[in-house]
Amino acid sequence: MSIQFFAPRGPDNELMKLPKTYRRSVSWLPQIGDIFPEFSVETTQGKMNFWDWAEGKWTYLFSHPAAFTPVCTTEIAALAGMHSDFEASNTQLMAITGSTIDEQKRWHGEIEDLFNVKVNFPCVADTQGALARCFGMMHPKESDDFMIRKSFVVGPEMKIRMIFEYPLFIGRSSEEILRVIKALQMRSETGAATPADWASGDSVILDEETPESYVRQVFGTGSDHIRPYLRVVYEPRG
Ligand code: BEZ
Repeated sequence: MSIQFFAPRGPDNELMKLPKTYRRSVSWLPQIGDIFPEFSVETTQGKMNFWDWAEGKWTYLFSHPAAFTPVCTTEIAALAGMHSDFEASNTQLMAITGSTIDEQKRWHGEIEDLFNVKVNFPCVADTQGALARCFGMMHPKESDDFMIRKSFVVGPEMKIRMIFEYPLFIGRSSEEILRVIKALQMRSETGAATPADWASGDSVILDEETPESYVRQVFGTGSDHIRPYLRVVYEPRG
């Protein structure tokens, strides 16, 4: 599917504001490092302009196929249950799906009954699939009818920091989403990389160039040069 990006329009047929580099290209598929486009949408919490809502915070923006479907029910319930953990990490949640606002609100009521959690984050009704097409959320080999489970982590400066895609029948892990957001924040705040299976408080990785004085100041401890290509800070503090 080719996405025409000369004059992309949102769900209300309004022109979407795009950075100049996007306007020059015939099609755009979001990539890590791109500025996420501004868009205006109807959500379960009213009309929103994405940049106004998202700027200055971390955002987990994700698509899911539809209201009143089983895997989606568990995903939304799991995120709602961990909403305060995301907020504690300066992170907002926004869902995009093809179901109407009314359908989603009724469905959220059922989720509250079933799981005893409130869905307190905005959920977009992209009923015509305009956003889904722009953001690469339609994968016709997986489904002609439904969006796949696509996830973006957008940083406070509106840059896409992470993208991942799951098929229809596999639910995402809310714990893993929060884990990678914390890893991205660690990277932004300190310059450290995070090793496989990293969790908050675990050892981090630094490049050879970072001065040891910086390491001690930021992490409250020194580093270990295990190999010329592997320098680790164990049990970082602060
Ligand atoms: C689900 O959430 O389980 C689902 C939704 C749409 C198609 C297939 C599965």
